Amino acid sequence: MKIALGADHAGFADKDRIARALRADGHEILDYGTHDDTPVDYPQYGYAVGEAVASGQAERGIVVCGSSLGIAMAANKVPGVRCAPVAEPYSAELARRHNDANVLALSERLTGWEMVERLVRVFLETPFDGGRHAHRVEQLFEFGDAQRERTLRAIETKAVTGAQTPKELL
Ligand code: RB5
Repeated sequence: MKIALGADHAGFADKDRIARALRADGHEILDYGTHDDTPVDYPQYGYAVGEAVASGQAERGIVVCGSSLGIAMAANKVPGVRCAPVAEPYSAELARRHNDANVLALSERLTGWEMVERLVRVFLETPFDGGRHAHRVEQLFEFGDAQRERTLRAIETKAVTGAQTPKELL
């Protein structure tokens, strides 16, 4: 698989280890840096990985920063990106099965290396379940003017309508 990687100064060591491990497993890696602990701004690296995935140059992306949070927020600004900041395996699995996450965000400061390896494996190996989840994932990219109108009306009336899924399918 072609995988884009990016990290700031607080995540580059894990990012480099991930790159080595994935190359050893036969994956093709697009490494957008950073490459040392000189302080840099995490949004730039989140955007680069996000664009690589959204444009189809990479099938998946993995981003690392100190907490996983800032770089995930940045990646999620890129239309087409579904980036999940994850610290334990069940969330990694659900991010794939239910949300079709295409970028994984990891924390070098809070998550140990063995867990990082496991999260990466789950993220790369778990399929999207599709089915009832597909139209919800599609809605993630419908936040244009029409959706904004609907949402503004919903918050005025304090009632969200249009959720059509029967309870037993939740
Ligand atoms: C850098 O100190 C840190 O703020 C950054 O890596 C990240 O955790 C931001 O969300």
